Amino acid sequence: MYRGELIDKIEKLKREKNAVILSHFYQRPEIQDIADYVGDSLELSKIAQKTDAEMIVFCGVRFMAETAKILNPKKKVLHPNPESGCPMADMATLEGVRKLKEEYPDAVVVSYINTNADVKTVSDIVVTSRNALKVVKSLKEERIIFVPDQFLGGYIAKKVPEKEFILWKGFCPPHFNLSKEALLELKSKYPDAKIAVHPECNTDTVEIADFVGSTSQIVEFATTCEGDTVVIGTEVGIEHTLKKKNPNKRYLFPQAADYCGTVYCCDMKKNTLEKILDVLEKEINEVILPPDVMEKARIPLERMLEVV
Ligand code: 13P
Ligand code: SF4
Repeated sequence: MYRGELIDKIEKLKREKNAVILSHFYQRPEIQDIADYVGDSLELSKIAQKTDAEMIVFCGVRFMAETAKILNPKKKVLHPNPESGCPMADMATLEGVRKLKEEYPDAVVVSYINTNADVKTVSDIVVTSRNALKVVKSLKEERIIFVPDQFLGGYIAKKVPEKEFILWKGFCPPHFNLSKEALLELKSKYPDAKIAVHPECNTDTVEIADFVGSTSQIVEFATTCEGDTVVIGTEVGIEHTLKKKNPNKRYLFPQAADYCGTVYCCDMKKNTLEKILDVLEKEINEVILPPDVMEKARIPLERMLEVV
């Protein structure tokens, strides 16, 4: 089927079924273009929680689609490709977090939104890269078990020295492979360029950045900062939105020691227009979670949304 035909069919079904399409910035350009909203994890969660649509087609990885379902359980949430997971989320286990809680009974469990639903059931509060500092600062507990991203956790820990962090040793493979040297190489060619990175990058990389933030915050910074060149230390899918928002700037994507040669999340790319049409037509790949898991996982998510 031609792309135009695919898009027309998606648009028609979306109207007929009162569906909303949500997309993360790392999705393929053509998906970002047909989405009703493109955003970071926090923005998409809030939209999913408040939407009046009957159906949510979530174009992101599994924990994002699960979060939408948990926050708005009456809606039908469809995930175009259920095989699109987040390798970092899969690094944290329910049993492992339970053990840490036993070891540190006075600690509060702070889970990055990049966790599977079962891990959220044993978490006290959820954070995203956009709000982690604010949420952590709002907690009265001094000891924090931070799951699963050791780099986001370590970045926040440095900003809150009064608290003790027990870091789960998880990481995002695409961001981990972005080295400080790759950024410095671009900086040597473009000395006036600003460097914006995601806090999932490793510590050395984050330390030399001019700006550290969520995907949405990177878009905001890169498209509005002074100067015409910005080095972007996050997944390449974001380039589409950057160019749309401000085509007059130059966005440089550094090389990464990944097999793709750049910061590229294969899982985010598993959703396609064909799969979106398929789920809308057949109403398949619905996110279904056990009711008790949804109820328990909703508590730390709603706590987060009360803070931000
Ligand atoms: P954001 O919340 O910044 O969109 O990050 C989600 C993510 O998975 C980054 O790898
Ligand atoms: Fe997970 Fe990293 Fe992909 Fe984000 S970019 S979904 S953290 S693997």
